[in-house]
Amino acid sequence: MITPSMKGIILSGGTATRLFPLTATTSKQLLPVYDRQMIFYPLNMLVKAGIKDILMIVAPEHSGQYLNLLGSTLKKFGINIYFEVQRVPRGLADAFILGESFIGENNVTMILGDNIFEDDIAASIRDFSSGGMIFVKEVNDPQRFGIVEFDESGKVLSIEEKPQNPKSNFCVTGAYVYDQRVVEIAKKMKPSSRGEIEITDVNNAFLQLNELKIKKIEGEWLDAGTFDSLLEAGNIARDKKLYENFDPIIDQAIAEFNEELKILAKKKLL
Ligand code: G1P
Repeated sequence: MITPSMKGIILSGGTATRLFPLTATTSKQLLPVYDRQMIFYPLNMLVKAGIKDILMIVAPEHSGQYLNLLGSTLKKFGINIYFEVQRVPRGLADAFILGESFIGENNVTMILGDNIFEDDIAASIRDFSSGGMIFVKEVNDPQRFGIVEFDESGKVLSIEEKPQNPKSNFCVTGAYVYDQRVVEIAKKMKPSSRGEIEITDVNNAFLQLNELKIKKIEGEWLDAGTFDSLLEAGNIARDKKLYENFDPIIDQAIAEFNEELKILAKKKLL
């Protein structure tokens, strides 16, 4: 049997209505977090984890912008970026259905395009072998998230999506690692009451198989989906110098892209 490699998916679809009018003209994940587009944060984590093939799932109206930013910038560093258009957002688990042929017989890490992690979760992604793995973080507003219930010994009992009466304050963040079985699991899912195929159901499926690992994260975790959290993300990125923690590949790719833009701008002035 061939050893599976790790593939990466970044889900950047959706309309982000909470950020209108900012997202009337561009994708939420292309908005700036201090000195770089938000999308470089999840991308950085995948690159740090040593992942060479990354599928970007984007909304049709923004596909050109993503292609412009990422279509060729990372290729020379041995990182292949693929694109898939998600016409209608059908839930996070839809990424594994859209990505079926991309994933093939391999493992896959999906990171949501608006998720910013201070912790270096790349090491855990590198060490993954099989089953499922999620990253949880203690939050003050558990009703907004997928929430993990633990027993006294710390064993996970269940995961509930946006519970009214949360059984803990530990929320499932937007980074998920699975083996290839995730595709079949996602394909069997039925949409929830909000009409989405839920990542929480995928996690519960691996939990029932007794194959779900949970990693607690201590550092900052942000999903920059509101004006306040977007501003906070930028402030944290600046104050904690998160831009210093990027893989040199991402830094170099951004620097070269900047150079190309400057050359083009000069040509236009002539
Ligand atoms: C989604 C997931 C939820 C998770 C959250 C993390 O929520 O459904 O389980 O805790 O992402 O950001 P949504 O952004 O769809 O409300």
